[in-house]
Amino acid sequence: MQLSELLDVILRWAHLIAGIMWVGNSMLFNWIDRNLEKTAELGKLSQGKIYMLHSGAFYEMEKKLLAPGEMPNLVHWFKWQNFTTWATGIGLLITVYYFHGAAFLVDPSVHDVGPEIAICLSVGSLLTGWLIYDAIWRTVGITHPRVASALCVIFLFGSIWGFSLVFSGRAAYVETGVLIGTIMTGNVWFVIVPSQKLLVEATISGKAQDPKLSLQAKARSLHNNYLTFPLLFIMVSNHFSAATTHHLNWLILIVVSIGGAGVRLAMNSRYLGGGKQLATKAWLLPAFVSGGVAILGLMVISRIDLKPKYGIDHPVTFARVQEIVGVRCVPCHSQKPSDDVFRSPPAGMMLDTPEQIKTMAPKIKYRVYDLANMPFNNKTHITDLERAELATWVVAGAHIE
Ligand code: HEC
Repeated sequence: MQLSELLDVILRWAHLIAGIMWVGNSMLFNWIDRNLEKTAELGKLSQGKIYMLHSGAFYEMEKKLLAPGEMPNLVHWFKWQNFTTWATGIGLLITVYYFHGAAFLVDPSVHDVGPEIAICLSVGSLLTGWLIYDAIWRTVGITHPRVASALCVIFLFGSIWGFSLVFSGRAAYVETGVLIGTIMTGNVWFVIVPSQKLLVEATISGKAQDPKLSLQAKARSLHNNYLTFPLLFIMVSNHFSAATTHHLNWLILIVVSIGGAGVRLAMNSRYLGGGKQLATKAWLLPAFVSGGVAILGLMVISRIDLKPKYGIDHPVTFARVQEIVGVRCVPCHSQKPSDDVFRSPPAGMMLDTPEQIKTMAPKIKYRVYDLANMPFNNKTHITDLERAELATWVVAGAHIE
């Protein structure tokens, strides 16, 4: 295993573990907030109480502000899961997308931009993205939260579209994911944690606590909550090149994000507090409709204009197929690739022997002809005629004699 592959697997593993811990926490606290029970006997600083059953005993939990001077010795904070998720994510971005001359970041058929410029654009958009989002919520957001929300949605969708113009398809998705993750992390470290520090200070010093700070932190935490579902889709999207490399990849991501956040909204609106819930159909139906929107986006948009418009009407011999594969695919898809970036066969796929080529025939047609996203970034300069020749051979039965 190469060093960069080793880094890749270690970072990916840690990213997944930290991400599950962070998102899991966020979901649980959100759920608790929505299920708190407010009763008359709770003090005026209380925001509600809840009993939960887990791992063999009851948990009694109350959400409240503390009276001045009541600060306990030990208070648990939740911030390092978030930091670890973000840091490993940035590490992955660098390892996978910035290393190897930014081979995964740039696709010359999308936009012919040099690796240095592409990397600068990627880093720059993360920084400016956070600054713009934060500025919106520190200005318009204070008085007009709805306007701020609309601005942020437009800004996010605009970013997705912009990324799809400069980066390779999968990089455009991942860049969006890192932008969302960076905004969520900024929310934790620059808004939620500072507001909690002030809360602790106020509790210790006995000064009145500013409820505005608590509300602000709650609002940012809610933004994070809605962003998780689209973000998790982006994390798995790299396996689905039918979406990421499609010419309308930005539209697919926008529609899936709307659907994903919609499912989250329906799940959030389910609980009314104190054990009360909306009628099942009042939240489950909108959840299914939102999920349906996401799936329709994937199914319908990714099929628009899918079939390449070239074709041939004569049979293609296996000798010809081997010739094409040898020149256009084997530089990467071989036991010993000759490519300068891919030192081991990508996706474990080798096309060295006739049997290997035959076994892979349906996948070859799908990626080379239907989706036309192989060879990778068309690095080996396959022609449209050759794509059609490979497809014709597959459709005729993929015979190797
Ligand atoms: C420059 C290197 C490169 C070349 C050349 C190349 N590929 Fe790939 N291929 C990749 C990479 C990287 C992946 C994994 C990422 C992906 O699926 O997009 C991949 C994945 C695939 C997959 C998906 C395998 C799976 O099981 O998911 C198929 C099929 C494929 N390539 C077919 C081909 C064919 C056929 C050719 C020649 C016409 C070709 N590739 C040329 C780099 C290359």
